[in-house]
Amino acid sequence: MTDPRWAEVESFVAETVVGEDEVFAGIRARTAGAGLRPIEISAGDGALLALWCRLVGARRVLEIGTLGGYSATWFARAVGPDGTVTTLEIDPRAAAVAEENWRTAGVHDRVEVVVGPAADSLQQLIAAGVDPYDLVFIDADKKSNPVYLEAALSLTRPGSLIVIDNVVREGKIVRESDDPDVVGTRRALEMLGSDPRLQATAVQTVSSKGWDGFAVAYVLG
Ligand SMILES: C[S@@+](CC[C@H](N)C(=O)[O-])C[C@H]1O[C@@H](n2cnc3c(N)ncnc32)[C@H](O)[C@@H]1O
Repeated sequence: MTDPRWAEVESFVAETVVGEDEVFAGIRARTAGAGLRPIEISAGDGALLALWCRLVGARRVLEIGTLGGYSATWFARAVGPDGTVTTLEIDPRAAAVAEENWRTAGVHDRVEVVVGPAADSLQQLIAAGVDPYDLVFIDADKKSNPVYLEAALSLTRPGSLIVIDNVVREGKIVRESDDPDVVGTRRALEMLGSDPRLQATAVQTVSSKGWDGFAVAYVLG
């Protein structure tokens, strides 16, 4: 399901409202040029994540799913020079492209990529007793969303935000499915709705990538 106007509106918003600069365009180009799939978030989504960072005064961001470092660059700019972004990526090739992109963007001093399966990296962060993150962005293999959400709850504090991307996926979420990605995302949404520590919602969206959506949760305590 798609409509050409969705991509036109997305471009209009990127140019008119967001003002995506050449740094971000360069990141997209280098990511695609390196043979990675062009599945990074849109400029409008990046600006929304950055706004949320500013609203909660985020200085520490955790991202699950780095790709070429596009969304991490939005976070790096939003947290400012004194902030940090930790991003988890299974593919060392993607991590290398991301690191090059952060150097070019001038934010490499505040972004760290941890290479390996995110479930393992998250357990290591929990075991290390790191300071809580102000915002966690979950955007990797969708089947593991419940595992990532549970870890995010251990790694945040009251007042933090947890964001999960791609929760609608052409409406598959409301159909019977044994696709592990759909099952994982549906379970994560059920967790968001039933956990008394969270106030959450999910928003469906349309864009150049079709019909999809994101969930956002505020950690109450
Ligand atoms: C949708 S892309 C991330 C896009 C990125 N957040 C952005 O908007 O710029 C998903 C990424 O998750 C990574 N990934 C998939 N499974 C993973 C896992 N088990 N652990 C860590 N990363 C994983 C993929 O290699 C891919 O780079």
